[in-house]
Amino acid sequence: MEERGDIAHSPGAESHDPFSKLLDYTRVSAARVAGIYQYFPVFESAQCPVIKHEGRDVIMLGTNSYLGLATHPDVKAAMHRAIDEYGSACSGSPLLNGTLDIHRELASRLARFSGKEDALLYSTGYQANVGALSAILGRHDIVVMDKRSHASLVDGARLSGAKLARYEHNDLESLEAQLKRHSGQPVLVVTDSLFSMEGTVADLPGIVGLARRYGARLMLDESHAIGVLGARGAGAAESFGLVDAVDLIMGTFSKSLASVGGFVAGSRKVIDSLRHLSRGHVFSASLPPAAVAATLAALDIVERDGSLRERLASNAAFLAGGLRSLGFEVGAAEGPIVPVHCGHELLALSAYRKLFEDGVFVNPVLHPAVPKGCELLRVSLMATHDEATLSRALDIFARARTPWWPAPHARRKDA
Ligand SMILES: Cc1ncc(COP(=O)(O)O)c(C=O)c1O
Repeated sequence: MEERGDIAHSPGAESHDPFSKLLDYTRVSAARVAGIYQYFPVFESAQCPVIKHEGRDVIMLGTNSYLGLATHPDVKAAMHRAIDEYGSACSGSPLLNGTLDIHRELASRLARFSGKEDALLYSTGYQANVGALSAILGRHDIVVMDKRSHASLVDGARLSGAKLARYEHNDLESLEAQLKRHSGQPVLVVTDSLFSMEGTVADLPGIVGLARRYGARLMLDESHAIGVLGARGAGAAESFGLVDAVDLIMGTFSKSLASVGGFVAGSRKVIDSLRHLSRGHVFSASLPPAAVAATLAALDIVERDGSLRERLASNAAFLAGGLRSLGFEVGAAEGPIVPVHCGHELLALSAYRKLFEDGVFVNPVLHPAVPKGCELLRVSLMATHDEATLSRALDIFARARTPWWPAPHARRKDA
């Protein structure tokens, strides 16, 4: 019997301590012992192409600020103005006392941007997915979701009590099998548009075709595609010309839009009901004015400056090509996300650490974010990177490469 805190705990025996899952959690301590733990890195500068870490310059290849707008002078000026005018916070729910004129402006702006009648704001993208799905669905509904969809979509579906049926990543046969299995029942198909870890773009024309054939509704998480895909940067639905075929478009402000918060856009009736029924909207304080103003300013830039998207695409192509010619296995890279296959968590963590020490920051992606054997380094580009910086990063990657990368027995990167 051990004493941990003030509750008796017998290893092996059924624990009566509600903290037992935490107390028995050893994955992190094992990585610390092995000297390969480096999560929660602390940066001393803004998210720019080169950041400061422990006083050193490090090339940033691991941010979601794809367009580099978090340091754009227009975005910063808009935040300053909003603080001067509205103060730092709203201190209340949008339903009762937390709605400002700029919240209204942002919601209608996002509705227009997404090609929908109305939009609803949430304080984070996570909250938007959990808040929307848990309000839309009930225990008699079926949610058919891509296996690699974001955790917030899974959590929203779980909270709703609906039956969660998963299909293989971007696999239309597997999607159709699920739709057949549940035909005649109320089904919502849910998918990310640009997958955050794999860098793949959902086969939206195929998904829309199947959803129509089986009478299912469709919700699309455009978090990583906003600012990146589509003629106006509105996302994958825009780039495929399928905005009208998608019932609900969701997005976050925490990536290209250089702020924090999220939204869901759809028909007037659906959004108005969500506005009153979605607990994540009703029971949480409104976005701070500065975050709203930053999002509005970033949207202005996204809509008026298509050259940022072009630079981002050419930076991603340059780096993905360079990594491939160094012999790395690089995934789809259909947007700014370039996945470098590792195939084992020890390799992903040790490579991450080595690159970081040598001056490149990337994100190690482990199970459960990807299946076991598909661990990878998630490399992401910014429109503001220049070729000289990316070439320096490639030199550092070349030095970090080992003969056992990807790991022996790794699953195929797209498995
Ligand atoms: C696909 C996707 N959806 C939703 C979210 C949640 O967004 P937020 O960071 O605004 O909570 C993320 C964030 O990582 C995401 O990648």
